[in-house]
Amino acid sequence: MTSSSPNIALIRKVSDLRQRVSHWRGDGCSVGLVPTMGALHDGHLSLVKKAKAECDRVVVSIFVNPTQFGAGEDLAAYPRDEKSDRSLLDALGVDALYAPGVDEIYPKDFSTMVQVEGVSEGLCGAVRPVHFAGVATVVTKLLMQARPDAAYFGEKDYQQLCVIKRLVCDLDMDVRIVGVPTVREADGLALSSRNAYLKKSERLIAPVLYETLIEIAEKIEAGGDPEQLAALGREKLLKAGFRQVDYLEVCDSVTLVPVSVTAGELRILVAAHIGKARLIDNVPAKGPA
Ligand code: PAF
Repeated sequence: MTSSSPNIALIRKVSDLRQRVSHWRGDGCSVGLVPTMGALHDGHLSLVKKAKAECDRVVVSIFVNPTQFGAGEDLAAYPRDEKSDRSLLDALGVDALYAPGVDEIYPKDFSTMVQVEGVSEGLCGAVRPVHFAGVATVVTKLLMQARPDAAYFGEKDYQQLCVIKRLVCDLDMDVRIVGVPTVREADGLALSSRNAYLKKSERLIAPVLYETLIEIAEKIEAGGDPEQLAALGREKLLKAGFRQVDYLEVCDSVTLVPVSVTAGELRILVAAHIGKARLIDNVPAKGPA
């Protein structure tokens, strides 16, 4: 093997993944799974590092999941670069890259979707009606296929994380779901594969998203009214140059129901469009002690 040959195994078939994982298990190793759609950035790599720190063997999956994209969304345009993703993962010492084709995950007669009620319905679920059923279905499949001890997801997609925790609990899946904090650029913009869609001028405006969330979190801590602050935040984003705000809400951190009074653990979540990009972000918040 030359020094440039990757050590990471490339797996395309469920049967090969199962075989490899059961071999690891036979050796007494714990297994971590990091599900991704590729186009890996430092945010994904922080999930991988956490998985590496906690598990003996790590599988990263790359699958651009068609069922979580609605009609007219960016499925075709979604960035894909398996070769560069594979070498990034190899450099981190990931044991296997599971990159199945669409037919492997959704064979011809596939007819089952996993629908998580409640926590899926508001926020992104209200504007992307098929999205979370697609996420819940593919994540269920990946968890059943890899049977990991732990699976790692970014807090950047906070609603997704809540949906996955709910489904794992409801379906009695024996896996630990680990949420990993958002990785940000120096100016606060959350890392996202979709930041690639931003033009230079839009990239300059984009950090206002995080800035607005932090301002609201500080005002809530000082006793501000969550509904009023959310409304002011939406106005601020539009004035800054975002063309549409899908939502900006202060919610209960577990149910994601918007709150009108500050009690318990809160999460402030936003989705807003700038140019061709739809950006999402969120921060934790707590009312006055
Ligand atoms: O967060 C993502 O990249 C995707 O939604 C996931 C969890 C890999 C499911 O396709």
